[in-house]
Parts: sequence; C-alpha cells; structure tokens
Amino acid sequence: MLALTGAGMSAESGIAPFRGSGGIWSRFDPMEYATTEALARDPAKVWQMLHALGLEIAGAAPNAGHRALARLAERIRVDIATQNVDGLHQRAGSRDVIELHGGGTTLLCMACGGRRPSAEVAVDPERLPPRCACGGVLRPDVVLFGEMLPDGVFERAAAAARAADTVLVVGTSAEVAPASLLPGIARQGGALVIEVNPEETWITGGISHIHVPMAAGEALPSMVGT
Ligand code: OAD
Repeated sequence: MLALTGAGMSAESGIAPFRGSGGIWSRFDPMEYATTEALARDPAKVWQMLHALGLEIAGAAPNAGHRALARLAERIRVDIATQNVDGLHQRAGSRDVIELHGGGTTLLCMACGGRRPSAEVAVDPERLPPRCACGGVLRPDVVLFGEMLPDGVFERAAAAARAADTVLVVGTSAEVAPASLLPGIARQGGALVIEVNPEETWITGGISHIHVPMAAGEALPSMVGT
C-alpha cells in the first residue's frame, strides 16, 4: 500500500496547511516567500518564514493519524510518499518514507554546495540568513516553488504508485505537480484510491474511488484499528 500525504496530515499536529486560513501562511504567502526567486533576491526575508516554520515544526509532535500509518506498517508493507518536510511520519515510527519535497535535516550552502546537519547550525533570528563557513548563504534542503524534485525521488514514488494495490491520499489538495499526478498513476495501475480529507478536492470522485470526509487524526485510527 502507498500513502500519499500532504499538509493536512500534520494539521492536527498544529502545523497549518498551505491552502486554508490561519497559521503561518497567513503571515507568509508561500508564493512570495517560498520561491527560488525570493531566495536569490532576499534570502533574509525567506529565512524569516523558514525560521517561523522551523519553530512550528520543532514544537509539533506526530498525531494519531501518523501513528496509525506506522502501526499499519507492522502488518502490511506501507510506503509513504509525503509532500511534508516536517519529519513527523519518521518520528511516529514509519520507515519507508519518500520525502518528495525534501526534509529539514540538512542545510545546503548556495555558494560551495556543502551540506550541514540543521541541528548543528544555530539560526539567530536577528542575523538572518545563516551562513556557511565559506561565507555563502545556507538554505534548507527542501523544494521551493519553481524547483525540480531531488533526482530520482518522483520516479521512486511513481513506481510505488504503480505497484500499489491501494493508495491512501491523505490531507492534500493535489494542486501541486508532480506529487498531484501520483493518485492518477496509481489508479491507472489498477489501485483502489481512498482519499481522506474533510473537504472535497478535484480528485474526489474522478480519481479517488472512495472519499472519507474526515480529519486524518480521526479517520486513520478508526480505519487501521489498534
Ligand atoms: P494544501 O495546504 O494545499 O492542502 C491541504 C489539504 O489538507 C486540504 O485539501 C485540506 O482540506 C486538507 N486538510 C486540512 N486539515 C486536514 C486534516 N486534519 N486531515 C486531513 N486533511 C486535512 O497542502 P498540500 O497539498 O500538501 O510545496 O500542498 C502541496 C504543496 O504545496 C506543499 O508540499 C508545498 C506547497 O506549496 C512546496 O513547498 C514545493
């Protein structure tokens, strides 16, 4: 089975989804702050958003939905392809996690290309952006708007989608390509597509066979059981 997860998966952990009201995205429009152009033009501005997001993630814990998927993997093979960079699936105990948009564990120097564990870099909100020993600006190893996914990552997720007999699509608006293509790829491969989202999305009905109109933290524990 493949679980394709998005920002709604972590909503009950206190991390606000991108599309919707409230949370840090009402202060930082992702189209203004999470783009490669903004990073090149004004890295300090982009780091204000990254710092706020980092604090939100640091204060968050996996919710009942993350834990249910980790429990299910004790019984059957569960691949997870997540658009989230919060690491909460891994913290809940899931091992086979494909991070489509990267993760927060490393920082990358935009000048020398060196990588540093994020935990080793003290980010001072008064002195943004953080810099590498070479003087270059450090950036998180995550995918911003306008960037390609890391090499091979989409191919791995697409292979898992083709191989899956069931795909759970949880907490994503399926608006951002290429992650948004995965439910269709899975359906074409013959998978049963089950969508867990309190709202309908453009894939509801057309691509997903079943829509469970509930929050992930409520639906997944009842679907998986104890
Ligand atoms: P979105 O914010 O676009 O969509 C979140 C979805 O989660 C919405 O459809 C909500 O209805 C749903 N939702 C909200 N609360 C939920 C809950 N408790 N349980 C289940 N579903 C819930 O987030 P994504 O689809 O993940 O990319 O966004 C995709 C990408 O857009 C992100 O990875 C990011 C962003 O720009 C990059 O940064 C490249």
